[in-house]
Amino acid sequence: MTPTGPTDRPRRARTTPPMRRLLAEHRTDPADLVLPMFLREGAEAPAPLASMPGVAQHTLDSLRRAAVEAAEAGVGGLMLFGVPRVRDAVGSGATDPDGILNVGLRALVEEVGDTVVVMSDLCLDEFTDHGHCGVLDDRGAVDNDATLERYQDMALAQAETGAHMLGLSGMMDGQVMAVREALDASGHTQTSVLAYSAKYASAFFGPFRDAVESQLEGDRRTYQMDPANRREGLREATLDLVEGADVVMVKPAMSYLDVLSDVAAISSVPVAAYQVSGEYAMIEAAAAQGWIDRRAAIEESVLGLRRAGADVVLTYWATELAGWLR
Ligand code: PBG
Repeated sequence: MTPTGPTDRPRRARTTPPMRRLLAEHRTDPADLVLPMFLREGAEAPAPLASMPGVAQHTLDSLRRAAVEAAEAGVGGLMLFGVPRVRDAVGSGATDPDGILNVGLRALVEEVGDTVVVMSDLCLDEFTDHGHCGVLDDRGAVDNDATLERYQDMALAQAETGAHMLGLSGMMDGQVMAVREALDASGHTQTSVLAYSAKYASAFFGPFRDAVESQLEGDRRTYQMDPANRREGLREATLDLVEGADVVMVKPAMSYLDVLSDVAAISSVPVAAYQVSGEYAMIEAAAAQGWIDRRAAIEESVLGLRRAGADVVLTYWATELAGWLR
């Protein structure tokens, strides 16, 4: 008998939808998704964001409704950002129990805290009038260690709201250890820490800065990472693991899949990826033009993160995607 073709035929695994479903190496589950949300102080109605079609700055009421909707769709977590009315040099609103973020966290815990993980953004940039993630020294540079003290106070205020997991996004050295120590010393041993470990100084944060009405002039390149650096992502994640992070994260996601894969390979805790505002905006914009299939692109973009090693994905499509996956 003469051979009629190859003996190794990977296409057999792709013959039918049931075969492909059975043999899929990765899938996305609603429980793995986290929805980032914006709450604006003093807002009378939800304000849609032009650069993020489908995303709005919430009022307290619309925040509650969107949280319930996400929880009902099976979304695993909610990550809250506050947009305060007043800002100052040290970001006082961040540590005020009546500051907008803390008020919102309390509302989320009350509304859906039994069914989803309520997460906070722990960073000063939304609360400072200069827009930096920390406080400044007398030469105008971001002062690492003085900022750590602010983060400790912020962590206590957030833990008091009942938030389950604090998202440390400021990229200060030693922030995980500083916050962990402050939490433990005040009896909040069960409050988790999600570390934005490898967070790059990215152009893909553009729409987010509209969403939080950022007042930043200049850039964050003295604390957020250089997009050129891969090894350094591993260094940052390793430090956060040693300092006690419960989850480590890579951000943005799509342009940093190598870093995500590196971190996933060494991490002893779950790994998250943040599909950021600019990634969202790109797909929405192309889909609005009819240039790509919106749903397929969204599903593929998140699946790619799972494949690269993300256990958890933060995405502005969390509720809609969870609905499709059910
Ligand atoms: C900082 C923070 C940023 C994002 C999340 N947390 C922005 C920044 O560093 O400028 C970006 C999220 C996104 O772009 O979707 N608090």
